[in-house]
Amino acid sequence: MQIKTPLSEGGLSWLAGFNKRAKVQPILYLALFEHLKKAIEQGTLRAGDKLPTHRALSRHLQIAVATVSKMYRYAYEQGLVQSTVGKGSFVASFPVMAQAIRAQGHQCINLSIIKPQLSIGESYLAKQLAQLAAVPQISDLMDYNAQGSLTDRRAAKDWLLSQRVDLSGKGISICSGAQHALMVLINSLTDEGDCIGVESYCYPGIISLASQLGRKLVAIDMDDQGMTPQSLEQACNTQPLKMLIVVASHQNPTTAVMSVARRTEIVHIVERYKLKLVDDDVYGFLSPELPPISNFTASDSFYLTSFSKSVFPGLRVAYIAAPEQYKARIDAQIRLSIWMPAPLMLALATRLVFAQEAAEIQHLQSEQASRRQRIAAKLLVGFEYLAQPTSYHLWLKLPAKFSSDSFCLALEKRGVIVSNATYFNALQTDPCAAVRISLMAPATDDELIFALHIVVGLLREKGDEASRYST
Ligand SMILES: Cc1ncc(COP(=O)(O)O)c(C=O)c1O
Repeated sequence: MQIKTPLSEGGLSWLAGFNKRAKVQPILYLALFEHLKKAIEQGTLRAGDKLPTHRALSRHLQIAVATVSKMYRYAYEQGLVQSTVGKGSFVASFPVMAQAIRAQGHQCINLSIIKPQLSIGESYLAKQLAQLAAVPQISDLMDYNAQGSLTDRRAAKDWLLSQRVDLSGKGISICSGAQHALMVLINSLTDEGDCIGVESYCYPGIISLASQLGRKLVAIDMDDQGMTPQSLEQACNTQPLKMLIVVASHQNPTTAVMSVARRTEIVHIVERYKLKLVDDDVYGFLSPELPPISNFTASDSFYLTSFSKSVFPGLRVAYIAAPEQYKARIDAQIRLSIWMPAPLMLALATRLVFAQEAAEIQHLQSEQASRRQRIAAKLLVGFEYLAQPTSYHLWLKLPAKFSSDSFCLALEKRGVIVSNATYFNALQTDPCAAVRISLMAPATDDELIFALHIVVGLLREKGDEASRYST
């Protein structure tokens, strides 16, 4: 039975097409949840939209209130929905990042977040915190101190030079993580309505930013080296692109790494069309032999990196290296958004840099990533996936019997969470059948092996068993 929903009916229009009796649908509340999720991903529902009450929805669909409540509870746990007592349920502010938010504290084995191994930095952190506590006048680190102390700025410069960033003609600004740096750059270099080029499958934080800030994303097609020059050139000829955001090393989600030749080709196009190039290099340390793509151009290029992947995600410090003439604008955006990065956090980063410990942790993390890739390579023999020998993650292409949705759902029921291709799809259209698997997320190798066995078990299911999961 097809539910007839007048599209004009406020709060219920997203239910159009929901078929509560579809043969292949799993449990009803999950099917309803998937429908809600799709409506959010496709933009039928937007952040802040009010959702129908439990009773209105149950009446409309003629299903039990308990089923609707179960769906809302699940959607809340997944980070898609926010509820306020007395006001009702609303689409959450950053639904596209919901997977990352909800995965924290979840009972499943979580292979959905790209992060370093926390235990690797443990002893360094403990030592630096103890030393910090003994610093005379420690309360100075609780004062206002826009853009960090002189020492913090020296550490930033040392760190960027150690990452092979060409700093000639560049000024350094300090943000609170790479997501913040991206927001600052988009806000200071583009206006509402402007077009920004990104990889066709890209870091979901950019998709959320563009949607919240009213920028239009233009998807650039990719091959095994990331965005292709042909597709970029075509986009430049057909759309008024102002900015290009590139993840040239260990791209999220595909792990693509651009060769020097590809970096050069992309930069030539950037220069020809006078684009602002944002070089998001948070994974650059995993291929230290390759210079950052922003080094290849003298014109408007903006380098950014953070410690989130190389040291600790909770060390909320990111550095931007931008042409001097843009520094004032960028710093103004930082003040506008957070006033200043937390001085205590900066002091910690600075100490880790000067003690060479950030570099040591970064090196150990990349060794651990190689070990995890070797584990995955053994277990995933015969399955199609993209990865580099030191990537934190891999991009698994799914056999025809699965869609990304059906695979993620079936895997979650077996206790493992991975990231659905939908989250990365810049245009939020039909995603390819793939999932991103983070190999560094589990705390131990054994946990990873256990989880990958579950992944492989599902991939190997016969067509007729797997078809239960197709959507
Ligand atoms: C490509 C890319 N850029 C930026 C970020 C945000 O990093 P941060 O945690 O420093 O805000 C991420 C996080 O996953 C990422 O993958």
